[in-house]
Amino acid sequence: MYEVSYLQELIEKEISRYSRQWDIQHPLNLYQPVSYALNVGGKRIRPLLVLLAYQLFGEKPESILKAAVAIELFHNFTLLHDDIMDKAEMRRNQPSVHIRYNENTAILSGDVMAFLAYGLLLEIPSDRIIEIATRFTLTAREICEGQQMDMDFESRTDVTTEEYLEMIRLKTAVLLGCSLQAGGRLAGCDEETGHVLYQVGIDLGIAFQLQDDLLDTYGDQRHFGKNIGGDIVANKKTFLLVESLHKAEGQQKKALESWLKKEKFNKEDKINAVRNIYDELHIRRITEQKINEFSNSGLESLKRLPAPYDRKEPLLSLISALINRIS
Ligand code: IPE
Ligand code: IPE
Ligand code: MG
Ligand code: MG
Ligand code: MG
Repeated sequence: MYEVSYLQELIEKEISRYSRQWDIQHPLNLYQPVSYALNVGGKRIRPLLVLLAYQLFGEKPESILKAAVAIELFHNFTLLHDDIMDKAEMRRNQPSVHIRYNENTAILSGDVMAFLAYGLLLEIPSDRIIEIATRFTLTAREICEGQQMDMDFESRTDVTTEEYLEMIRLKTAVLLGCSLQAGGRLAGCDEETGHVLYQVGIDLGIAFQLQDDLLDTYGDQRHFGKNIGGDIVANKKTFLLVESLHKAEGQQKKALESWLKKEKFNKEDKINAVRNIYDELHIRRITEQKINEFSNSGLESLKRLPAPYDRKEPLLSLISALINRIS
């Protein structure tokens, strides 16, 4: 069994190997942005989940590195399109692809990344590859569904907590579930165990997106790498805003609704005003409680999984560490 740091090294090396190939592939204007997106960093959580789930039952994570890279590549594709949709100009402390190049490039290079991801996945010699590609395809559709809900919610003020949780399950959590399930199934685990791994990923993914929402308002830009307050500016129905809309009363509610309606405003003024309302309503603490709830549920399911404790330990530690992440 390999240490987490060694698995991370394997992932980085494999990504740079592909990235070097794409950097010189023609047409350069299609492939160089792929290489740019992969080289500006990122936490590589999803490929690590693939390999850690594989290590619960299997001995040769090197043999499924392509699946890990495929999922990371797919994740990066969603970010290229997401940044256009969210008008987000910075990611990983660098200009987003549509800013560094242009929007058409970010659309088409994103598209090709999705297909490169499928190609890599299908290169894995496993009799379970059709099953995994089928789950991956469903996951891809669900991410689009979640992203559409995210966009639709921008112009609504009556989004319920249930609707919000379903939106983030789709846009974010299913890919983490798919990563864990793919790793486990490629290592030979049974269907039932694969299902539990998927559920662990869903709980972890929901906690992960809640934390992303929190960091978008309360994070430190140097660590987070994205512009702080972008969600507030775009009226994103984050957990913070959905809870605030439910909890605010009287003048506070009026002030919040008026900021949501304003079409012309100074961004900093809006961010500060909305953040002050969140503070008054103790939204930060409420969000942290929710993150703990989902993270604990994932940890509990993982503990019950039929695998030796020392095999589960790195995954348990990763899930616990992600609650306190700042980037
Ligand atoms: C960003 O994902 C998109 C979300 C689902 C919140 P990550 O926070 O994993 O982004 P990188 O890959 O580490 O930059
Ligand atoms: C990301 O949600 C979900 C997907 C990219 C599918 P966000 O829009 O919150 O992600 P960031 O904050 O831009 O990374
Ligand atoms: Mg975004
Ligand atoms: Mg988004
Ligand atoms: Mg976000």
